[in-house]
Amino acid sequence: MNSPLKHPKLALAPASPQFIDQYQQTAPGRAPAAAVELAEGLNAASATVAPKYFYDTLGSQLFEAITRLDEYYPTRTEAGIFDAASGDFAATLAGAGIGQPCLIDLGAGSCAKATRLIPHLQPRQYVPIDISVDFLREAAEQVQSTFPALDIVGVGMDFSAGLALPPQVQRDNRVFFYPGSSLGNFSPVEAQAFLQRLADPAQGAARGLLLGIDLVKDKATLEAAYDDSLGVTAAFNKNVLRHVNTLLGSDFDVHQWRHMALFNEAESRIEMHLQALHNLTVRWPGGERRFRGGERIHTESSCKYTVASMSALLRRAGFKQVSYWTDPKDWFAVFWASA
Ligand code: AVJ
Repeated sequence: MNSPLKHPKLALAPASPQFIDQYQQTAPGRAPAAAVELAEGLNAASATVAPKYFYDTLGSQLFEAITRLDEYYPTRTEAGIFDAASGDFAATLAGAGIGQPCLIDLGAGSCAKATRLIPHLQPRQYVPIDISVDFLREAAEQVQSTFPALDIVGVGMDFSAGLALPPQVQRDNRVFFYPGSSLGNFSPVEAQAFLQRLADPAQGAARGLLLGIDLVKDKATLEAAYDDSLGVTAAFNKNVLRHVNTLLGSDFDVHQWRHMALFNEAESRIEMHLQALHNLTVRWPGGERRFRGGERIHTESSCKYTVASMSALLRRAGFKQVSYWTDPKDWFAVFWASA
């Protein structure tokens, strides 16, 4: 009874990350806000589903598979820049007087990119954020086992809806990490508004931002990256219909839809759509939408920038100093912007 080894398991237990679910917590099962937003998008004259709905657990896994495809150059190109420049990042942070940063990873997913950066930046706290809550929870545990002493606060949230971070998140020296060109899912106007909020002392309170952005390049390379030969991107796109069925209670049949990806040069963005193969009706509690054969649902825009256009956008958003690194082909850029 009075054994000195009263809690041997406790003594050996690895540290586990704090985790705050601000997304599913308020909406167990079917998220009412999501259902309202989805029904609105489906009822619009040009039907839309927002790209954040790609990311249920299977969607996050399919995205991980995309990052390994031959045609999908962004992830490995960005990784090359990070590998070459991570020493520079650390020096840049030190030069800006940002010691012991709080690294806030927007859309962290598998946390693979931050895991490579953490040894260089030595953050005091790591805050991975993602809407794919269960996927993030596992990823955060993995990061914790790689860095047992690191203070980790995982947050499940839809940060496109607002940046209210939980009180556990360190207030000073916040550095936002927004890799992978995910900012491209916003329109340029939305992107500027989002970046403005990050820099706002009352909201994000960023000291700086490390941002990965895909650059404009030839149409064939861009379109192949979003319509790969194995059909993984097609599966990723169609999977949104399964997720919508779960959230909205709709009866989409994935077989009735075809994947489409095209580069819209005027808007400088890749667009992904799902196209109805024939006339059909989708029903859900309280609503329905008829689609003619050939009609589309717009599921994603992925805006492509130039170094000049993104530098200008960062300055308009209120960031004072902007520097960047690119790969030898100028396919991708990593920006450092300080507030
Ligand atoms: C995660 C939004 C950056 O736009 O390239 C990959 C998502 N969509 N293939 C992108 C995606 C289709 C990706 N982002």
